[in-house]
Amino acid sequence: MKPNRPRAHLTAPSGWINDPNGLIEWQGHYHVYYQYNPFSCEWDTPYWGHAVSTDLVHWRQMPVALRPTPGGPDADGCFSGCMVDDGNGAPIAVYTGVVGADEDMRVETTCLARASEDLTRLRAHAANPVVDGPPSPEATEGFRDPFVWFEDGRWQQIVGSGSRDVGGIIYRYVSDDLLRWEYAGVFHRGVGDRHDTHDTGIMWECPQLVRGEDGDVLIISVLDREDPSRRKVVGLAGEVTPEGFVEKSRHLVDHGSAFYAPAVMRDRRGRTLLWGWITESQTPTACTRQGWAGTLTLPREVWVGPDGALRSRPAAELARLRGTPLLEAGLDLAAGERHPLTEAGAHLWLEADLRLDDADAVRIELLASPDRREHTDLVVDRRAGEVRLERGASSRSQAAETATERCAFDPSSGRVGLTVVVDASTIEVFVGEEAAITSRAYPTGPTSTAAAITAEGGRACAEVACWELLAAIS
Ligand code: FRU
Repeated sequence: MKPNRPRAHLTAPSGWINDPNGLIEWQGHYHVYYQYNPFSCEWDTPYWGHAVSTDLVHWRQMPVALRPTPGGPDADGCFSGCMVDDGNGAPIAVYTGVVGADEDMRVETTCLARASEDLTRLRAHAANPVVDGPPSPEATEGFRDPFVWFEDGRWQQIVGSGSRDVGGIIYRYVSDDLLRWEYAGVFHRGVGDRHDTHDTGIMWECPQLVRGEDGDVLIISVLDREDPSRRKVVGLAGEVTPEGFVEKSRHLVDHGSAFYAPAVMRDRRGRTLLWGWITESQTPTACTRQGWAGTLTLPREVWVGPDGALRSRPAAELARLRGTPLLEAGLDLAAGERHPLTEAGAHLWLEADLRLDDADAVRIELLASPDRREHTDLVVDRRAGEVRLERGASSRSQAAETATERCAFDPSSGRVGLTVVVDASTIEVFVGEEAAITSRAYPTGPTSTAAAITAEGGRACAEVACWELLAAIS
């Protein structure tokens, strides 16, 4: 039995997975590559794993697509990057080549890899590296994760970096042929400030751009080397200009602690799709025992809202993951009355429209054991003006996993729409289109699978529908 393993989220066949890479729709197939260590359940020299789908719902695991070239500029790892259509019928991966296993001595460069016709093999280009390192010695924290797009008749590349003394930096390059790149200045930079609620640290990884009519969002993954649990993904709302990115405001792209290093792509329908890496909060020993570590989010459609901040929802196709209906009901919830939703919620898609009437809060228990000693609670709290995922009782054995995750909720209307996807140990919550919380829970008991709803401090109404979440990875 594999109690923690998701069945609809992309997970490595075995071994370690981190960032999604090289997202592209090509000849009717969606391709997702990912940072992959096939040899153990801990991070090490990354390869690019690969999965393919025709419908965004069902995924087929493919062989490793990109591997380090001995003696090459990626000898010690093919780190994160993207994929573009070069216009000559061949997609090309633009990725980070790394030489030097020791983090402080690494040389990070931009490399290219040409895809075979079916995109199953990516071959490192003879011209590698095409950018041989940062443009300035101020880049003390690294130089990686190229993101490339075509605009104004030229290829544009932004690369993540940072300076110990100042903050995160994104450098920009331009090119006519993807091979020769000209440095085009700092695209954007931050000022590390631990007193700022959106402190963006000293290293920005995996820059991504979402373009919109109401503005652009520059997504950055903020690394905290001293305390990796403080990693976070920040959306910088603003505008791409010829001089660089003009930032107007900041927000979190996801409020969960398990979400990091997302990547985006534009599909043929003009949608922007996003996948993130869902990290583990188990010990490395527990991961080794289960044989795999890390998974990717479900694909999300993202766009820039009228306030300039990112919006998201599960891609519409994912409705096909809804299998057997478990419940569809309009519930009048009396104060304190616990209403069971299902016993079979280990793999669950739940939609809830809540009206809080005179209730202070509505609590949805997930992954609950029959004795209710294990449960993970999603609480819509009107008094606190927040939606919280409480994990203090998620697991009898994971004492460390107590962090509560929260996002703001405007209590004035008392109404909220929730989409919750539980896929064994992964939980993705969408609070309307405004906020998402990606998290993990590791209940110990095979019967910790129930879901229930309770109104607290008054009455509430809930329109609830639950389905079994289907398996979609082969
Ligand atoms: C983000 C990251 C990237 C890097 C990759 C290495 O999680 O640190 O910056 O390219 O992972 O696996």
